[in-house]
Amino acid sequence: MKFLQKSLNAKLTKSDLLIVFGCNDKKIKLPQGVKVPASALESFNCGSGQKRITDSIKGSFQQVLIIGLGESKKIDAENIRRAAAVAAKEAMRNKLGSITYWVAKSYGFDAGLFGQALAEGAVMGAYRLDSFKKGTLDLKKITFHTAEIIKRGAKRGIAIGNGNCLARRLQDTPANKMRPRDLVREARKISKNSVSISVKVFDETAMKKMRMGSLLSVSEGSSEPAYLIHLIHRPKVKTGKKVCFVGKGLTFDSGGISLKPSGKMHEMKYDMSGGAAVLGVFDALSAISSDVEVHGLIPASENLPDGKATKPGDLVTACNGLKIEVLNTDAEGRLILADALAYAAKKIRPDAMIDLATLTGAVVVALGHEITGVMGNDEDLTQALVEAGKRTSEMVWPLPIIDLHKEEMKGTVGDLRNISGPATGAGSSTGGAFLSYFVGETPWAHLDIAGSAWGSAQRDYQGGDQGTGVGVRLLIDYLESI
Ligand code: BES
Ligand code: MG
Ligand code: ZN
Repeated sequence: MKFLQKSLNAKLTKSDLLIVFGCNDKKIKLPQGVKVPASALESFNCGSGQKRITDSIKGSFQQVLIIGLGESKKIDAENIRRAAAVAAKEAMRNKLGSITYWVAKSYGFDAGLFGQALAEGAVMGAYRLDSFKKGTLDLKKITFHTAEIIKRGAKRGIAIGNGNCLARRLQDTPANKMRPRDLVREARKISKNSVSISVKVFDETAMKKMRMGSLLSVSEGSSEPAYLIHLIHRPKVKTGKKVCFVGKGLTFDSGGISLKPSGKMHEMKYDMSGGAAVLGVFDALSAISSDVEVHGLIPASENLPDGKATKPGDLVTACNGLKIEVLNTDAEGRLILADALAYAAKKIRPDAMIDLATLTGAVVVALGHEITGVMGNDEDLTQALVEAGKRTSEMVWPLPIIDLHKEEMKGTVGDLRNISGPATGAGSSTGGAFLSYFVGETPWAHLDIAGSAWGSAQRDYQGGDQGTGVGVRLLIDYLESI
């Protein structure tokens, strides 16, 4: 897909469809030289998300699509995003090849944010996993004709939208085509295309040397080797802040010897969604940059049972020296994160560390598919993520980690066990409590995205039986906020 940005008064790019927005308390404005039947404008009320497609009687477009934004005073980023996505979806439904958004004003809403939400919605709305089907994608070109300040926001929006779509493509790709080695390839591609981003990849030999026995134990039963991917974005001007994002990159979770029921096992291709989000963030950073030094760690692994697989009861040692009893091989996310977090705390020493992981089924029960659970050891960091969630409509809700939860994760043979006793409940909190043993003194937040990473409700730009790319927009907003 190609995205072009033009100024408002530039000669209109010829395309299959012109898209304009309207509010129900304002007159609809069309670009000079474009005319539609008066009746089409008069009978349309511009309610939020409403659409009207009409033939154009003059100008370089065959058709004009008018999208409603509702009342001008009530406009927010989410309804702009959704309106833009409705337009992109309509174009795809009609198999159009190129579309043009024309936006002259932001109706009193912040112009930069208007542009950002517009482009995010258009880019995300046009997402489709097409690479495995015969035939080519119809929609190939999206042009934005906008006023100047809107244009700057739209540039960000295109980058962030692209990052989100990258994450979703990695999520939706079947697990036999998105193995740990494929995540490595994606990371290398991102770093190659950006001067500010570099990547280091630790293979199993390197991880053995680093004594990452916990991470390594998870893929013992898989013929696919595990990797630890370390991306770094170094800003041109350093502000002194350094953050680290850690994303669970479990490319398929069968549960291992503690095998999952087969009914929904195919959904476990999404178990790399945290890693996908980190890659999406770096993809966005390659286009819009940030003054923050950003590190991205992705432990990439596949959890399968075979004769070599880790067994329930086995004892493994993480790189910080803690011995872990693996009582359930399906609680593997925390095992690969343990070594990644300990490595980050000791070697990267960031000012803040945020992990994203499809860690527990319990968070799906508690918060469903619209909300990410957050917990950690730093109230300010947690609150910053909750606020970023409000601004991006990637909602984040705090869950507790109490001393009891930490106590519950202590082992009998080893220092820790990877699941709590059966009577404790609070499965998401005990998962977080386990991770807390590996972060040292680093301010840390854990985002449990097991629900929010896939299968969200219909939001026009995402929703239904697919990945959401959750975390990309959230963390880019967080970086902007610090
Ligand atoms: N990948 C799962 C968590 C998950 C569940 C993600 C549903 C997406 C949807 C994770 O590795 C897992 O299996 N967790 C176990 C932990 C338990 C054994 C303590 C779970 O939630 O059942
Ligand atoms: Mg292996
Ligand atoms: Zn699991």
